[in-house]
Amino acid sequence: MTMELIEAVLKRRTNRDHFVNKPISQEDINAIIESARWAPSPFNIQPWEIIIVRNQENKDKLANLVKKSMSAQMGDPKFLNDVSQWMSLSDDEWQRRADGVMIDDHVDLPDFIKDKTKLKPLLKNAKNMSFLGKLGLGKIGAGKFAELIKEAPLIIIVLLNKNKRSPGENRNTWELLGMGAFIEHILLTATALNIGTHFINAPLETKKDRDELRAIFSVPENYEPICIIRAGYVDKEPKPSVRLNPNKFVHYEKF
Ligand SMILES: Cc1cc2nc3c(=O)[nH]c(=O)nc-3n(C[C@H](O)[C@H](O)[C@H](O)COP(=O)(O)O)c2cc1C
Repeated sequence: MTMELIEAVLKRRTNRDHFVNKPISQEDINAIIESARWAPSPFNIQPWEIIIVRNQENKDKLANLVKKSMSAQMGDPKFLNDVSQWMSLSDDEWQRRADGVMIDDHVDLPDFIKDKTKLKPLLKNAKNMSFLGKLGLGKIGAGKFAELIKEAPLIIIVLLNKNKRSPGENRNTWELLGMGAFIEHILLTATALNIGTHFINAPLETKKDRDELRAIFSVPENYEPICIIRAGYVDKEPKPSVRLNPNKFVHYEKF
């Protein structure tokens, strides 16, 4: 591996675009696994397991589930209300607030609504967002993400082994922190290997969909699917992102 760590950290972006149509080499998969397995975890419990998915039939089944679950999210007022707080409608707005996501990166807006100034009043509350969902906005976005899953060279499903419990009253937190470290090792090592990554977590939102995912990939009861990562080689720079200025979140000595 050639890239400096800090370079990989700064270069890593969520890549919601097409990947190069080329299988990920076993050597690169092994490098990602080797890096991930050295992640820290509470009491070194290593509660993680992964499923490497490359088979087209499995990807197609997952894509159908992505389509269904994302369409359902677009019809859920509570979800949409939460999302609308984090959506910027213009690049200016996004740069100014320096958090959240751009609407264009999540929803493929149909032509009749491309003028986003008209969208603003519609995004004000969940009821209106659901209305947009019913108009088919959600289905368009869901269809796009389903296609991205189908054509992805590699899908990694990350599982938590619920039998490997951390000691301590706050065990759920410690276990999830370990999972986060494991996943970040995957993302950064992939970046260093010129592999783009993208979480597609809609199928993990509801128990019903998680159960369907379990059925597709024969995941036993005592394993919890934590995230789904789409990955593939990249040949162009991913879209830039935004971050808060350190003065917004760093405290010295006391809060
Ligand atoms: C736990 C977690 C879940 C995420 N789920 C999704 C997802 O389902 N779909 C998606 O497009 N991006 C997802 N993301 C990516 C975030 O939107 C992204 O990290 C954030 O907007 C910052 O952008 P960047 O990763 O390009 O720097 C997820 C990220 C994390 C850490």
